[in-house]
Amino acid sequence: MSFLEDFVFSFPEKLFSSPTTLLGAFALLLVLYIVSSSFTSQEKRKEPPGPRPLPLLGNLLQLDLKRPHKTLCELSKKYGSVFTVYLGTNKVVVLAGYKTVKEALVSNAEAFGDREVTPIFYDMTQGHGILFANGKSWREMRHFSLSTLRDFGMGKRVAEDKILEECHHLIQVFQEHKGKPFDTARLANYATSNIISSIVYGSRFEYNDPRFQNMVRRVNENIHLCGSVSVQVYNMFPWLASWIKNRKLMLENFEMTVRDIGDLIKHLKESLNPNACRGLVDCFLIQKQKEEDSCVMDTHYNDRNIIFTLANLFAAGTETTATTLRWGLLFMAKYPHIQDQVQEELSRVVGSRQVQIDDRKNLPYVDAVIHEMQRMANIVPTAIPHKTSQDVTFRGYFIKKGTTVYTLLSSVLYDESEWESPHTFNPSHFLDKEGKFIRREAFLPFSAGRRVCLGESLAKMELFLLFASLLQRFRFTPPPGVTVEELGLSPVVGFTLSPAPHKLCAVSRE
Ligand code: HEM
Repeated sequence: MSFLEDFVFSFPEKLFSSPTTLLGAFALLLVLYIVSSSFTSQEKRKEPPGPRPLPLLGNLLQLDLKRPHKTLCELSKKYGSVFTVYLGTNKVVVLAGYKTVKEALVSNAEAFGDREVTPIFYDMTQGHGILFANGKSWREMRHFSLSTLRDFGMGKRVAEDKILEECHHLIQVFQEHKGKPFDTARLANYATSNIISSIVYGSRFEYNDPRFQNMVRRVNENIHLCGSVSVQVYNMFPWLASWIKNRKLMLENFEMTVRDIGDLIKHLKESLNPNACRGLVDCFLIQKQKEEDSCVMDTHYNDRNIIFTLANLFAAGTETTATTLRWGLLFMAKYPHIQDQVQEELSRVVGSRQVQIDDRKNLPYVDAVIHEMQRMANIVPTAIPHKTSQDVTFRGYFIKKGTTVYTLLSSVLYDESEWESPHTFNPSHFLDKEGKFIRREAFLPFSAGRRVCLGESLAKMELFLLFASLLQRFRFTPPPGVTVEELGLSPVVGFTLSPAPHKLCAVSRE
């Protein structure tokens, strides 16, 4: 915030330093007046209430940009479940609590289903791909990716085999640490990115492949940088572009990833067999050729869409699942009595054979723990910003077409009217009195509606097989000399909430 404060406080001094700028000052005041009167017109149009914004800065000085979701949850206590904040001059409508978020995303799916493409993501993908796209191109890329991922086994046996293969590699590298403390971050990321890679490219990478290591490192770096204060400031004031170092780093990282993806596609193109798809890339290339051959007008199967779709799947499919798994292992080290029960159930039901997806129905406690770790980890606390696709009146408030909407998933996952003990790690949230697994409506870590996470069923399979396989083989403990109480649970805020850097011991149970 020091940059902003410096800017705000030195601005008037600079402005009035020369008489020739007086005219400019007058024009600025006029703009401020117009902006501020548009803010105060909220009441007349029954727009959602909110804290009074400052001209140009909006509510920036009231928000903790290092933990925006926390401030927004606090503001919802004062202004209700539908309220407005201004990030600079950008108006954002925030939706809080399970009932409100569900009503918007599911009952008003069309109106709340567009994506807000912030300047940093526009700089990267110019509206291509899936995550930061809208309209026909988004629809086509989402549909193509979903159906191809399903064909390649998302939620089915084929994906199970790929995940189990990766479990095997992950167990091996965990074993190499021989019970000594190590940071699980890098290896967890290699495992999850390899699962999506083998579905997309048709093959996995070796963990020591430098190109693969760099691709994973750059994705993680970008996810971290995009939650930095300076990049958030850039999204509000895009004219600051050339001063924002983190923006430059993100674009450089992204450019290198695009180059790597381009090389991988080129390689697959050279050995393409139209009768045997090895992965999503082959299917895309075949569809592209088909549309070109039949001269389809306005085809969306173009080079930019394939590259940015792959970049989206790699980024969205890697860090999210790995971060959740790392939270899970950390919770197990922190709450050894829960780890005891997980391992008791695994030993009783599965024994020493390989865990399979079919075992899930017989492992209600393990399933409940995995759901609870996703709920508590709350890794995408504000979801990914949405935008209204049309004027909408929601819960009595008018929201204009094109307004940015934050669906505050942390207010859903910690909703005090939905969860018995929202701030405590409590697997009983997902168990009935007989110890059977129960689904909970307010469990929305993947969001809901038109933009619901495209990889939800793959992520669920991954989390179950990776978590259960690791817990079957290893006991997770804090490093020697660190007590359970000293294991911190405060997150590092980036695009996702991840555990602060830490080490754990994976002690073999055999
Ligand atoms: C534990 C793991 C994961 C979590 C918690 C998670 C969560 C989310 C959330 C909250 C969104 C935003 C939804 C919204 O805008 O309302 C999202 C979108 C998305 N996710 Fe995931 N995700 C996970 C894993 C994955 C995986 C494995 C993939 C890849 C196959 C994936 C691909 C995507 C894509 C492509 C979108 C954009 C959808 C769109 O804009 O239409 N995610 N995810």
